[in-house]
Amino acid sequence: MDGRIVKISGPAVVANGLEEAGLNEVVRVGHERLMGEIIRIRGALATLQVYEETTGLALGEPVVSTGEPLTVELGPGLLGQIFDGIQRPLPALAALAGDFLRRGIAHPALDRQKRWRFEPKVATGDRLTEGQIIGVVRETAGLAHRILVPPGVSGTIREVKPGEAAVTDPVVVLEDGRQLSMLQRWPVRRRRPFRRRLTPELPFLTGQRVLDCFFPIAAGGTAIIPGGFGTGKTVLEQTLAKFAAADVIVFVGCGERGNEMSEVLSDFPHLEDPRTGAPLMDRTVLVVNTSNMPVAAREASIYTGITIAEYFRDMGYHVALTVDSTSRWAEALREVSSRLEEMPGEEGYPTYLATRLGQFYERAGRVVPLGGDGEGAVTVVGAVSPPGGDFSEPVTQASLRVTGALWALSTDLAYRRHFPAIDWAQSFTLYAERLQEWFAREAGAEWVALREEAMRLLQRERELQEIVQLVGLEAIQDQERIVIESARLLREGFLRQSAFHEVDASCPPGKALWMLRLLLHFSWSAARSLSEGVSLAAILETRLDERLLRLGEVPPGEMETIGSALMTEIDETLKRLRGS
Ligand SMILES: Nc1ncnc2c1ncn2[C@@H]1O[C@H](COP(=O)(O)OP(=O)(O)OP(=O)(O)O)[C@@H](O)[C@H]1O
Ligand SMILES: [Mg+2]
Repeated sequence: MDGRIVKISGPAVVANGLEEAGLNEVVRVGHERLMGEIIRIRGALATLQVYEETTGLALGEPVVSTGEPLTVELGPGLLGQIFDGIQRPLPALAALAGDFLRRGIAHPALDRQKRWRFEPKVATGDRLTEGQIIGVVRETAGLAHRILVPPGVSGTIREVKPGEAAVTDPVVVLEDGRQLSMLQRWPVRRRRPFRRRLTPELPFLTGQRVLDCFFPIAAGGTAIIPGGFGTGKTVLEQTLAKFAAADVIVFVGCGERGNEMSEVLSDFPHLEDPRTGAPLMDRTVLVVNTSNMPVAAREASIYTGITIAEYFRDMGYHVALTVDSTSRWAEALREVSSRLEEMPGEEGYPTYLATRLGQFYERAGRVVPLGGDGEGAVTVVGAVSPPGGDFSEPVTQASLRVTGALWALSTDLAYRRHFPAIDWAQSFTLYAERLQEWFAREAGAEWVALREEAMRLLQRERELQEIVQLVGLEAIQDQERIVIESARLLREGFLRQSAFHEVDASCPPGKALWMLRLLLHFSWSAARSLSEGVSLAAILETRLDERLLRLGEVPPGEMETIGSALMTEIDETLKRLRGS
């Protein structure tokens, strides 16, 4: 069934003659067979968003529907790969077309030639149900790629074919003759099914003290990182990719400026996996949109990314999906919408912006997979780049309503080079209470109390700083000066964390708890010493602060020994002062 182009407006193309095609079907547009998707049907006219540059396309050129929705390929070969927003493998395309992407190139996402060693986990006569693991492929050293029965498929096995196979070769044959290969397809705009959701009681540990301690999220939870220009969104997302407790990382890069994504492309392949020393790419899938790619592909990219993430979840893995940045995705949505001449909502974004964001973040979760064994999770962290760092804009606001935590980056902190520049006064998490039990059990019983105490200290400092602004530091009491000093140590010694220091870059909860213990112990003991007549100057002269400020550099394995010693030292030093 052929249609004809009747109108072209950037990425939006209108065609007639596609009456029998359905919404969200993939079409091939023009003589060059550019890839597109039907996004609106009005009477005899279908509106398409085209994933490739439309210049040169002419009215009257043919449009052919493929009858299929936009799908991704899932199977061995995903890890370490770099895809564009519609899952075209960028390295393979570059090899085909030179450095620029030729239009209309159709290239399978997964390599058809490459052979993988399929190790079966099932045998002839076994009864298979959907989601069940039929075998594994050691795709990379760090990760076994589990091959699953696709959703909706079940039956009894007639034959199993172990050994080397390409992704499309049959590895299991069912009694009714159906063949299962290692390759699955899934429509990106539909969430992959699972058996049931699990409660958010397990943390998604990030290794960042300010996040894990003050604003933790659950595995399968969602958080946004809004931050103005240069506040550290990208560094934080990369730090999460490296250190967060996830088996697989899916990174969706939506760049605006040309160099932004080439940075990702040059940085990521060099990142080392701190767990294994192997390249981080061994358990990473990159989906990137460079600025020379059409906006429609950027719109699709977050769905491509989350579908891949769900696929690894279904194998029983914990997956971290990071998007940098969702604002660039929303701008793509806005541009397509304006080409469609839709009624604009706030700041020109379509009125369905919030719904779309909601549908996307809803796909996060910790679940029992279809196969019924173990658990898998997709945790989603989306960066937001509000223009001018103003969080009242539509993308930040709409994202806030559909996610569980706000990790707000502060321009002021970044300017003072306090990194990660998480604004502790503005950030929040809805997961803290559900996770308390885990932290108390796994890190230490005082976790909850110390966390609250630390937050109170920061709050008191804020109030005191306001007074200091008005009357000056000299005008406040020594007891208050000690509060300010303790809060400074907490900020600089605990909340601040260097992404580039070998040891400090990632901090396990046990070490974080020791740091809190020491910092707060100093705060209490100093206050007590003051009330017992020790002078403020004497306390400040002990130089205990220098030790407390460098706790981040203590290797986690030595923390207990060094921590206990420092605890005693604090006590003895202050006791000496009281005695003298
Ligand atoms: N955790 C950190 N530790 C040390 N330095 C940091 C950290 N985070 C950010 N920086 C510094 O801030 C700079 C800007 O960070 P980054 O590129 O992540 O900001 P961004 O918010 O992504 O900016 P943009 O708005 O341009 O995308 C980095 O190049 C680095 O020098
Ligand atoms: Mg950035």
